[in-house]
Amino acid sequence: MIVARTIPRIRQAVAEARSAGKSVGLVPTMGALHAGHFSLIEAASRRCGFAVVSIYVNPIQFGPAEDLAKYPSTPEADLAGCESRGVSAVLLPATEEIYPRPCRTIVDVPDLGRNLCGASRLGHFQGVCTVVAKLLNIVQPDVAYFGAKDFQQVTILRRMAADLNFPVVIEVAPTVREVDGLAMSSRNAYLSAEHRRQAPALWRSLQMAAKMVAEKRPLAAGVVEAIEAYLAEHAPSGVVDYIEAVDPDELSPVENTDGRLLIALAVRFGGARLIDNVLVDSASPGS
Ligand code: PAJ
Repeated sequence: MIVARTIPRIRQAVAEARSAGKSVGLVPTMGALHAGHFSLIEAASRRCGFAVVSIYVNPIQFGPAEDLAKYPSTPEADLAGCESRGVSAVLLPATEEIYPRPCRTIVDVPDLGRNLCGASRLGHFQGVCTVVAKLLNIVQPDVAYFGAKDFQQVTILRRMAADLNFPVVIEVAPTVREVDGLAMSSRNAYLSAEHRRQAPALWRSLQMAAKMVAEKRPLAAGVVEAIEAYLAEHAPSGVVDYIEAVDPDELSPVENTDGRLLIALAVRFGGARLIDNVLVDSASPGS
């Protein structure tokens, strides 16, 4: 496995793979890899002759009061995990490599990036779009892999790739969970024992909401209220950032719960801000 710390090195490795007729996959990550990341990495290794994982904690997607300085970092374990899953190359750049000077060009998808997580994380999705655009230009993969846990992120990135004609297929993998349902996240490491005990209520509240939609088609406001009440009882230490029912393509609020619906939430436990979501299709049989 190649560990490339510079842009020329990864470009050279990708060029060699291409001239050997291999397809190229990219899994962008910020490291501290867990089973959620590894599901994307395994998909890339299976499908692409040359699977690249980027590990880079992108400073411009963190707000001034956010956890950039203490973001977990486990480079040795990350590299070992990539190697054992058949990754061909890891791009592990320093910030001087990605941002040798302040980046004056910012990629933004304003209408999809200002609500949900974008409302409390100003500039976050601009930072994500800008670094992912850079990574796509650096590696030029055929396929790039993202997780459904960050549903708004992947919706925005799909739109960015389509609007700017990036020649890449965006693949989305389902959320990987702990046995008690908590969505795996590098930020779960920040949870106290009591907060860790309460946190699975997030996923349980979303499952309850999905069942409610399938059975009764309530108004979206009723779904949100039911989740609020569930969390007040089962996760009393959680401070709700948002709970919303939105159209999964436009991310705009909906009133009715017919058809496809994304129910998404963000809840803070102490210093950890956790997100989760469920996609409900009440029009499809069996939902
Ligand atoms: P990071 O949080 O490290 O996540 C990297 C990828 O792993 C994202 O596509 C994310 O959705 C996916 N992922 C995280 N937890 C997951 C889980 N439990 N199940 C399935 N997939 C999961 O998201 C980022 O990094 C950054 O914003 C990035 C796209 C790398 C840009 O800096």
